[in-house]
Amino acid sequence: MRISVFVSGHGSNLKAILNYPDLKGKIVVKWVITDKPHCKALDIAKENNISSYCIDKEKIAEEYIYLTELFKKDNIELIVLAGFLKLLPTTFVNNFKKRIINIHPALLPSYGGKGMYGMNVHKAVFESGDRESGATIHFVDETYDTGFIIAQEKIDISQCSSPEEIAASVLNVEHQLLPEAIGKIADGKIKIGV
Ligand code: GRF
Repeated sequence: MRISVFVSGHGSNLKAILNYPDLKGKIVVKWVITDKPHCKALDIAKENNISSYCIDKEKIAEEYIYLTELFKKDNIELIVLAGFLKLLPTTFVNNFKKRIINIHPALLPSYGGKGMYGMNVHKAVFESGDRESGATIHFVDETYDTGFIIAQEKIDISQCSSPEEIAASVLNVEHQLLPEAIGKIADGKIKIGV
């Protein structure tokens, strides 16, 4: 299965996908896409000889038309948002219905939506006093974090004494949950595009 991964941060989820033994021979990461030209995730793409493309934020509409044509030409079957923080244009989402997944570092539908990313999520969870958090994989639609949930993993955070500790524990879960979900999609256990 040919996939494209959208990133904007450290790229630890991209790295987890590339290094996940069960995905070897099952998937090929053909493109890494970002809108942050200096993000560390681009270094990971380069180290792994993966083509990358940086979206020009001054011409979003044209850029997503270009990416749509590129992905159709390259037969990209799955688009994975791994730390990509922007909303995708509705036209782009509709061109890849049920073929775009996102990983969110909390138990959606809680702690999701506009502005809920990175440490904002873990600070909100910490302040709530919740004893559990976790990660969620969902299909992407035209609004933040509202698509159909395809995988979720809970962890006990009652021993975490800071939002940073929650973030680290959740990131460990992400690095397992995301590659696993991609493997299930590649195996046809999770249906896409329908
Ligand atoms: C992860 O916490 C993910 O849940 C969120 O952004 C972060 C990406 O981290 N969407 P990385 O760039 O993959 O290290």
